[in-house]
Parts: sequence; structure tokens; C-alpha cells
Amino acid sequence: MKQPIDNHSTKLKKEVDTRRTFAIISHPDAGKTTITEQLLLFGGAIRQAGTVKGKKSGKFAKSDWMEIEKQRGISVTSSVLQFDYSGKRINILDTPGHKDFSEDTYRTLMAVDSAVMVVDSSKGIEEQTKKLFQVCRMRGIPIFTFMNKLDRDGRDPLDLIAELEEVLEIDAYPMNWPMGMGKGLMGLYDVYNNRIEVHRPEENSLDGERFVPLNEDGEIEGDHPIKQSSVYEQAMEEALLLKEAGNEFSREAIAAGELTPVFFGSALTNFGVQTFLEAFVDFAPAPSAHKSVEGEDIEPHNETFSGFIFKIQANMNPAHRDRIAFLRICSGEFDRGIDVTLARTGKSIRLSNSTQFMAEERETVQKAVAGDIIGLYDTGTFQIGDTIHEGKNEIQFEPLPQFTPEMFMRVEAKNVMKQKSFHKGIQQLVQEGTIQMYKGYHTEDYIIGAVGQLQFEVFQYRMLNEYNSEINMTPMGNRIARWIDPDVLDINMASSRNLLVRDRFDNPLFLFENEFALRWFNDKYPDVELQTLL
Ligand code: G4P
Repeated sequence: MKQPIDNHSTKLKKEVDTRRTFAIISHPDAGKTTITEQLLLFGGAIRQAGTVKGKKSGKFAKSDWMEIEKQRGISVTSSVLQFDYSGKRINILDTPGHKDFSEDTYRTLMAVDSAVMVVDSSKGIEEQTKKLFQVCRMRGIPIFTFMNKLDRDGRDPLDLIAELEEVLEIDAYPMNWPMGMGKGLMGLYDVYNNRIEVHRPEENSLDGERFVPLNEDGEIEGDHPIKQSSVYEQAMEEALLLKEAGNEFSREAIAAGELTPVFFGSALTNFGVQTFLEAFVDFAPAPSAHKSVEGEDIEPHNETFSGFIFKIQANMNPAHRDRIAFLRICSGEFDRGIDVTLARTGKSIRLSNSTQFMAEERETVQKAVAGDIIGLYDTGTFQIGDTIHEGKNEIQFEPLPQFTPEMFMRVEAKNVMKQKSFHKGIQQLVQEGTIQMYKGYHTEDYIIGAVGQLQFEVFQYRMLNEYNSEINMTPMGNRIARWIDPDVLDINMASSRNLLVRDRFDNPLFLFENEFALRWFNDKYPDVELQTLL
């Protein structure tokens, strides 16, 4: 007879295996919000479709999803959405862009098992997509591509695929192929499902037929109005070309993040989105193991609850000092009121006040399992990268990577008499991961670095509100940060074009004015190897 504990572990494994936790990466305006809304519709998490109108209002901390919330009158929190589809529980993590882009955006990618890359097919691969992609690539997680806005005249699909492969250095496999685009969009040749998906079937003379099946040779049987169309011919020819010259389809390569399946479609007109979602649910991985600092794999089915904090969201309302710490559950099951250990301090904490983020309403979580994200109310206990775990066996997950900042400011206390609160504020906010800090190589001048403007604003706000420290920030603009081995460093290498500073661990680095200054340095010191973070 089976022990009850076995039943429990079988149940846990079953639950965990239904989880699909991913983030959508894209350049602003590629259609991330629109596709998110469509996905929520399919999941029944929202009931009404509509265009999400301009996001021009508001200064900061206005995530795209908060915008959906405002527009649609539904309660969507800014960080995690959860819905069920086809027997799977889907968690979508927000990766804020625009003015909200920050290190948190990168760190969120540490908490997902796969990523969906949304590309505007009239633009191709843009800057922010490239950066976010690189973080996903480094983790080796599967990346699914959605080439959006097919209802508009965009670039040649063959060009888009070639650019994707070249710029991102990843193999691509088109799962479907457009038959025309813009006003002339007739449909998609769905290579994977061997059928044609008809665009606006009700407007075609196809009796509302949404899918037209193909025979073994990938052709439409008998007479069919689609066959008369020139875009059909062209799509078939191009698809054949890809079959002969393109990459082989491979589930393993997709799982290893070496091949990205590409889906064409239009989020706005909801064309190709469901086909994409179905394939995604089929291919996207369930939660996998996370490495501890000792190199041990912590399996998601392991019954001991554990996880790590990847993001802390400070409340921007001065009346509420509370924050929410976002925890990715890596193993076991969360039960409200569970006692855990905070690995950094060894202290025991009872997790009673936690929220989970549902599209309909913010609910208090009773239960969540590996793969899920929970928000823990935080009054200053947690830091980014913290591990928490149940039981006596010490677990410490690998630290989160640091990302190379690109924007810099000089910072000083407005009031020279208030140095103490200024230093304390900086130290703590740097430790929390709000911002990165540097000092002049021979001076005590503070320079702060960030990947997005929002970080500076949050830093300034929190310095004032939490540490009562008014600060002056002087922009230094964008710089390219490169670390240098202290043993090869020669003070004379520094100039006004490559400012020499040290990070908070006293490691030296240069802040190059631009690419040109970096190249000049490399030419002058060909034997000096410079390092970058991610
Ligand atoms: P983001 O979250 O990635 O920043 O993009 P978002 O979904 O907000 O979309 C950016 C703009 O692109 C929106 O237009 C949206 O309607 C439009 N869009 C998204 N998907 C498609 C698509 O498949 N086809 C077309 N033609 N447009 C698409 P906007 O001008 O910001 O707002 P609106 O005033 O047009 O609604």
C-alpha cells in the first residue's frame, strides 16, 4: 500500500508539471500589451477584447498592465498574470519597458522558464529586444518568436527571418508562413499543423472556413478558391525554399534555446494568436531545477518549499511604506502561514501575508507550487536575490547576475550636514539592487549607474522618503562600462574619454564616452582584456 506521503508527492509533481512560467520580451510598441490581452482572453481571465489605447500619460511606475487595468476596468496587477489554458496553468511575468525599464526587467528573466519574443514585422529586431534576448540566451531557456502586425504592410518575411538569425545568432524555424500581408493578407500556411489558417474567414468567399487542411504533400486537395490566389503560390514557394535551405525542426533544439520557433500573426486582429498559444503550451517547458551555490540541482518536485526573491516593488505612495517582494518558487509547495528560513540571515519567518496575482482580482494565496510567483508583503526584511526555504537543510540559490549599467549620474547630498543619512541610504539601496554605485578611483565622489531612467527616479524618491536625504544628481549620460584587471591597470590609461572608477567591491573599471573611445582604447592597448557584466 502506498504511503500518504507518496500520494502527496505525486500530486505535487502533477501540479508542478502543469506550470508554464514565461515573460514576453519586446521593444516598446511591438505589441506586448495587445498580445497579453489576447492571451488573457483565451484563458478566460478577461472577458472583453479591445484595443489598449495610448500609454502616453503618467510619469513612471505605470506598467503596461496597469494601463490595461485602467482601460478595461479590470484589476490586473503590474507584475504577474495567471490563467489556465488547456490543462496548463500559465504565469506571465511583466518585463516593463519604456520609462519603466530597469534592472528588475532583466532580473525577471531569471525567474521564468521560457520567453516569448514579440517583434514588429515592419521593424524587425530592435534594440531592447536584443538586450532582453541576450539575457534569455545566457540562461539557455526556450525562446518563442511572434512576428506581429501582419495586418500591416511589413518587411519581407524572408528578410525578417534572416535578420533574426544574424542579429541574434540563433537558428529560426518558421512554424507558419504568411500568405500576403497588410490589406492583402490572406492567411497563414501553418507548416507545423499542415493546414491553412484563413485571415478573416467571414470576409472571404470560403464560407467562414477558418482552417483548410492540406494533404501529405502540403497541398490543398482538389479545387479551392485559395489556390487561385497569387499569394498562395508565393507562400508555398517560399515555404519550399525554407524547407530545403532552412533549419530542421527539432524539439530538443527548441528546448535548449538553440532554435526559436517563429509564428507570424497579428495581435490586434487576433490572427494566429491562438495557434501560437496552442503550440506554446505544447512546447514550453514545465519548471526545471535551479542550481544552489553548492552546485546542487534543486528539483521542483522536491517537497521542501524553496524560492528566491527576484524583484522588490516599492510602493510609490508615501502613505504606504510597504513593499512587495516577488518570489519565484523553485521547489515544493507554498502554504499560507508556512515557516521558512531566510538563508542570508538564518532567521525564521512566518509567511502569512502573501498575495498572488490574478487577472480578475488580487487574491490572497493559499497554495502555490514550484513555477508560481507569489508576492510577499515586505517591510524591509528581504533583499533581491534572497533565498528562502523550509526545513533545516540549508539551501542557497546562486546569486542573481549583475547587469552592466549604461546610464550614469554623479550624486551628492544637497545638504552637506546630512552626510550620514545620505551614506546610509546609498549603501542600503545599492545592497537592495535599486541602483549600482561607483566611486572615483582616487576620490570618494559617488557615481550611480542604471540600465534605465526609472531606477534614478526610484532612487531619488526613496532617498528622500525613506532616508530623508535630498540629493543632487548630475547626468553624465550614457557610458560603456568595462572592467579591467587591477594587475594590468596603469593609471595613465585613464582620460576624460574613459573615466576610471571603482565599483563597490573596489574593482577598477572604465566608463567610456562612446563606442569610438572604446575602440580607440582597444587599438592602443591590444593586449589589455576588458570585461563586461551581462
Ligand atoms: P507594447 O506593449 O509592446 O508597447 O505595444 P502595444 O501592445 O501597446 O502596441 C503598440 C501599438 O501597436 C498600439 O497602437 C497597438 O494597437 C498596435 N498594435 C499591436 N499589435 C498590433 C497588430 O497586430 N497590428 C497592428 N496594426 N497594430 C498593432 P497605439 O497607436 O499605441 O495605440 P492605438 O491608439 O492604435 O490603440
